[in-house]
Amino acid sequence: MNDSQMIYVHIPFCKKRCDYCAFVSCTNFQIVEKYFCFLKNEIQSCKYNTKPISSIYFGGGTPSVVDEKYICETLSLIKSKFKIMQNCEISIECNPESTTLSKLKAFYKAGFNRISFGVQSLNEKELLKIGRNQNAVQVKNAMKNALKVGFENLSVDLLLGLEGQTCKSLEKQIEQLNMWGATHLSLYMLMIEENTKLFKNVQNGLYLPLEDEICVQLYDLLFKKLKELGFYRYEVSNFAKNGFICKHNLGYWQMKPYLGFGVSAHSFIDGKRIANPDNFMDYFNGKYNIEKCNQQSLNEEYIMLGLRTIFGVEENFIKNTKQLNLLLQKGIVIKSNSKIRVADDYFGVLNQIILKLI
Ligand SMILES: C[S@@+](CC[C@H](N)C(=O)[O-])C[C@H]1O[C@@H](n2cnc3c(N)ncnc32)[C@H](O)[C@@H]1O
Repeated sequence: MNDSQMIYVHIPFCKKRCDYCAFVSCTNFQIVEKYFCFLKNEIQSCKYNTKPISSIYFGGGTPSVVDEKYICETLSLIKSKFKIMQNCEISIECNPESTTLSKLKAFYKAGFNRISFGVQSLNEKELLKIGRNQNAVQVKNAMKNALKVGFENLSVDLLLGLEGQTCKSLEKQIEQLNMWGATHLSLYMLMIEENTKLFKNVQNGLYLPLEDEICVQLYDLLFKKLKELGFYRYEVSNFAKNGFICKHNLGYWQMKPYLGFGVSAHSFIDGKRIANPDNFMDYFNGKYNIEKCNQQSLNEEYIMLGLRTIFGVEENFIKNTKQLNLLLQKGIVIKSNSKIRVADDYFGVLNQIILKLI
């Protein structure tokens, strides 16, 4: 199962930080050159380069805001250093505002074959309230240009739970994104993270995210709508058309080994977790943290992640057989071959089910 591995590359630059974002990012473009120099050194000196690479993911931050030469050179270095499998999925996160036709051409030529657009919403009012000045026309053009240069695999991130969101408007947005060529959709529940502007706004009553119960209702309706349009759920927040399941995402949930490069990137390799520092100073000084994982926590993680997907987990990993039998009898989980997975109707209470089984 683990005869291959994956690569994640963190590009931490953003033009502006969005109100909800707690990822490691930086708006100072003066350090771009230095950052890529350290990033390339880190890749170049990596010792884990024997297993073939099944997927590569450039995430952020916003990889599309820096000059494309940095991105393409980094991918080219990875290609020369590692054995890349023939059908390797190579994704890049782009924000519609900064995704120009010439950038897309360069990405395609360099070997990227999947774009993940950070759309969040097609509604300008909803976007402004979370600190994003982007509009639907930019999204439409970016997707059109991506198709034009040859990309066939376009993913879109949407947020669920934004102030003012309604089922009708979300359904319409999904229809539009489908029309514009989306093959994959991630529907993330808005998380109000501490130390973000949104967190303060919520506390001060300036932002009113949707209530959890409403989000659950919306999610169920959207699940049906997505199915109608041919997007099938393969993980609680992820939906794909036939043949477009994201290998990289799936790899994380199936605990495939991965190498992470860049500030705040994590690796999971040889049963160890390696965490790069989440501040630039320490990253430039080459500090990182290694933690050896114990088997019990790895098993629990396997169950927690695997049950989020429609592929489920191997039955013999579940030690709490009493609970398992109860859930099987009630039809809450389903067994097929030697695998256990959560029944479609119970994804809304996934966390409770997982807690019972670990
Ligand atoms: C690392 S971010 C990169 C975002 C990208 N640069 C953009 O322009 O949107 C990847 C995705 O994480 C999701 N995300 C970020 N913060 C989130 C939050 N607080 N709650 C839920 N999802 C979040 C967003 O959907 C986003 O597209």
